[in-house]
Amino acid sequence: MLRPVLQYPDPRLFKISEPVAEIDDSVRELAQDMLDTLTTVGGVGIAAPQIGVLRRVVIVDVSLMEPHEEGKEIPQDFRVVVNPVITVLDPAKHVENEGCLSVPGFRAKVARPKRVAMDGTDLDGNPVRFEGEGYFGACLQHETDHLDGKTFVDRISYLKRSMYEKKMKKK
Ligand code: NI
Repeated sequence: MLRPVLQYPDPRLFKISEPVAEIDDSVRELAQDMLDTLTTVGGVGIAAPQIGVLRRVVIVDVSLMEPHEEGKEIPQDFRVVVNPVITVLDPAKHVENEGCLSVPGFRAKVARPKRVAMDGTDLDGNPVRFEGEGYFGACLQHETDHLDGKTFVDRISYLKRSMYEKKMKKK
């Protein structure tokens, strides 16, 4: 089911999400709603709090792991990760121009560790691990940040953030 995507600065986007203790129907339904919402509005990832559910579930597009060549279309490959945990594999800084479904009409350069791993489980409780760097690595970190009440806006300079907040107030 398509759910409305919360928009910054909705207070629920700043809350810490609860770990999933057991994968039951409520978790499967949540994952389906997240997938329906993501594929309808379009994007490369989504976290449960973005549809107002404070549980540690994300969806990431693992096709981004593949090198994207000019003119060669790789179909999106969405995977649900329950209780994701990020491990930094290469702390060197990498900068990506990030955007977010919850922060419409705004993109900004965000510096994060270059290479990371995301560990968690799939909807059957089987362990999953995705490793990535560059854009994909940034996506893994961006989605997990949402579970800790952070959007990419919290990782940019105060000046850039106030520019965005001013723009939002005008609307
Ligand atoms: Ni986001």
